[in-house]
Amino acid sequence: MEHEWKTIIEPFKIKSVEPLGLTTREERHNILETAHYNLFNIRAEKVLIDLLTDSGTGAMSAAQWGGIMVGDESYAGARSYYNFENEIKDLTGFAEVIPVHQGRAAEKILFTVIGGKGRYIIANSHFDTTRANVEFSGAAAVDFPVKEALDFDKPAPFKGNADVAAMERFIKEKGAKNIPLAVMTVTNNSLGGQPVSMENLKAVQELCRRHGIPMFLDCARFAENAYFIKLREKGYAQCPVREIAQEMFELADGTWMSAKKDALVNIGGFLALNNRDWSAKARQLLILTEGFNTYGGLAGRDLEAIAIGLREVLEESYLQYRIRSSAYLGEGLLKHGVPIINPPGGHGVYVNAKKFLPHIKPENFPAQALACALYLEGGIRSVEIGTLMFGKRDKNGRFQAAPMELVRLAIPRRVYTQSHIDYVIEVFGLLAKNPAGIKGLEVVEAPEILPHFTARLKPAEQAA
Ligand code: F0G
Repeated sequence: MEHEWKTIIEPFKIKSVEPLGLTTREERHNILETAHYNLFNIRAEKVLIDLLTDSGTGAMSAAQWGGIMVGDESYAGARSYYNFENEIKDLTGFAEVIPVHQGRAAEKILFTVIGGKGRYIIANSHFDTTRANVEFSGAAAVDFPVKEALDFDKPAPFKGNADVAAMERFIKEKGAKNIPLAVMTVTNNSLGGQPVSMENLKAVQELCRRHGIPMFLDCARFAENAYFIKLREKGYAQCPVREIAQEMFELADGTWMSAKKDALVNIGGFLALNNRDWSAKARQLLILTEGFNTYGGLAGRDLEAIAIGLREVLEESYLQYRIRSSAYLGEGLLKHGVPIINPPGGHGVYVNAKKFLPHIKPENFPAQALACALYLEGGIRSVEIGTLMFGKRDKNGRFQAAPMELVRLAIPRRVYTQSHIDYVIEVFGLLAKNPAGIKGLEVVEAPEILPHFTARLKPAEQAA
């Protein structure tokens, strides 16, 4: 009998290292001031643990670096393209594979082809860039999260699911002919990196089929989603995770991917589908802005690394380590009484700043204040998902409270070890001793569009 070890280890050893940016608290105090309390303005060298995003920040394997060296840089018909295409066809089953430089390029192309005024795109939840591209085309992006997704404290296995009944009511109200596409984002990044169950994918597919609406997956984190199905959904415990992923894709009519996540690379993406009319139009746009059909804005070496990464990501030892690291961070925070979206997501943990810092009013940006405190105390960079990012503005330009105040701690793939995560938990332990010591912020200036990237803030005068 094989012994069942309690310790889940990182299933890799480290071949190449990069130093971390060590700074003192005093230096970080000055850096924050100079950066106007906006973490996007801080040089990465001045960050100790960078949890800003899991996108393009992962470590490639030795096999992927080997692929980089043998990448075929031919303009047309490169061998690396065929390796990429074969891997994606084998995984997803779609006939048409279109390479792009990152996820949003696929979104821009797809919604230029199928979007437009008077149309609606429905989803469990659109990611921000997806929503922006849908809206840029003139169409409307409408989300149908399940109710339990909005109850952060109460754990549920598949908080990424779509509310199928609400989707159906909407289809009947607006007419299926005005809805060219339903999107299932796996995992659901906007709502805590939570997975979608196979049962829910099947229900949405069945609904869409009855109304003649194609369903696509936004599959940036498909492998994490498939592994959650294996862990949590009845009937999948013994199923190889690659087969679970293939079953997810079989339900869909197409997919697009930001390869910067679950393809374990620093840049890249693709659009894959069966509809030849859509793909022909997409290829026209591809050639206009991305590049020829067999490289789409990427170097041959990038295509090679993606092909290898798509295989590695489905190794179960990797996924076990990956999902365990996020859960470990989440459990550590809960032990310190830090409220999170429970359970932890696949690619990280989302802290509920509204609950952690009830003394800070929404107009003083509790989630941004927490993100700044994390940097000040521990050199940790995270991202605010709250009033600064999503708050609507009144006619005087003042921010109105967003529905949620979250700080996302996204974990880069294969980059940090358990002691890095232990350190993050310790920093939270310090903050949790005196949350009231964290002060609110106020805006000095903020642009209309995507204010969180460039807004300037300062400590609030009167705020608690
Ligand atoms: N779809 C999802 C679900 C995403 O999470 C992202 C990116 C995209 C599409 C767009 O892909 O960045 O390659 O153009 N998410 C990153 C993040 C930026 O930090 O969550 P991209």
